[in-house]
Amino acid sequence: MALRFEVLGRFNRARAARLTLPHFTCQTPLFMPVGTQGTIKGLTTDQLEEIGCQIILGNTYHLELRPGSQLIDDLGGLHKFMNWKRALLTDSGGFQMVSLLHLADITEEGVTFQSPVDGKPMLLTPEESIHIQNNIGADIIMALDDVVKTTITGPRIEEAMYRTLRWIDRCIAAHKKPDVQNLFGIVQGGLDPVLRDICVKGLVERNLPGYAIGGLAGGEDKDSFWRVVAQCTAGLPEDKPRYVMGVGYPLDIVVCSALGADMYDCVYPTRTARFGTALVPEGVLKLKQNAMATDERPIDPTCPCMVCKNYTRAYLHCLVTKDAMGSQLLSYHNLSFMMRLSRDLHMSILEGRFPEYVIIQLNFVSFVSF
Ligand code: GUN
Ligand code: ZN
Repeated sequence: MALRFEVLGRFNRARAARLTLPHFTCQTPLFMPVGTQGTIKGLTTDQLEEIGCQIILGNTYHLELRPGSQLIDDLGGLHKFMNWKRALLTDSGGFQMVSLLHLADITEEGVTFQSPVDGKPMLLTPEESIHIQNNIGADIIMALDDVVKTTITGPRIEEAMYRTLRWIDRCIAAHKKPDVQNLFGIVQGGLDPVLRDICVKGLVERNLPGYAIGGLAGGEDKDSFWRVVAQCTAGLPEDKPRYVMGVGYPLDIVVCSALGADMYDCVYPTRTARFGTALVPEGVLKLKQNAMATDERPIDPTCPCMVCKNYTRAYLHCLVTKDAMGSQLLSYHNLSFMMRLSRDLHMSILEGRFPEYVIIQLNFVSFVSF
């Protein structure tokens, strides 16, 4: 195993831990910004370090299409290629294909899809996904899983869960760099507690370096979502990291951390920035609104970030619809907000004041939770 996971403090099920990866030692709970094409849109790697970002996510599917994982490998791996010295995680690609391409077709062999480059049919197998991720060289790589929406019902959910379990063995067998890259398994099973339980047990038997909870945040209600997270974290080992995939909103991160999850990723903070929305403790601030045009305050007077120190809402209002700098500055602030949230969760657990911290967060009535 190429990681160490040390729980430094607990509050009931919540944990604050140190996660030592080949390229960086991270503190959990942690949020991972999504850098689909080997970049977090609009931010330099120096800026990401400046705001305290510890690990970022890349996507196998996008990187394989452009510039190609063989080229990345030839040029020394993704860390060197994108000039990022801290930790990296790559997702396996299946989820992106299924969510982005309507023509993706899943069989036992793998995921077949039409190349968006030349329209030719392509097949992503568990072996190929791991091979690509070995080339890219991230600290954490994800197993290829069969993902179905939580809102569907019927035998397809069971089929996808068992296929995910069969594919994990093909991923383990194909993984050539277990000494420097950590392969995480992904729990599937929709909203069905019996299927989730079988998947958790099946993955735990494989003694992987870490585990992800997948197939969530796809339109199910909060109650069902949190119930699945609570069930999975309860069945996963205490001494391994737990990653809830595709999550997201600040409230979900607070709740999932209380339920014993450690890692999160979501496009939300950077995507919403590009639409002119800033994250603030009370919820969101829409910089496009006319009221912002003459507002001389920073986005958030309590935020210590470079954007809040230097720019007014009026200036950002002026930029957001007209210049790329607007979305860059908002992404910088929004990711700073998420990094501060991660640090506050870690410190509040360590210092025995997690419940007070959670209550303060929940008191913000419009805390982003849709
Ligand atoms: N990203 C968000 N959810 C998922 C999931 O269930 N599987 C994978 N591989 N990636 C995800
Ligand atoms: Zn700020």
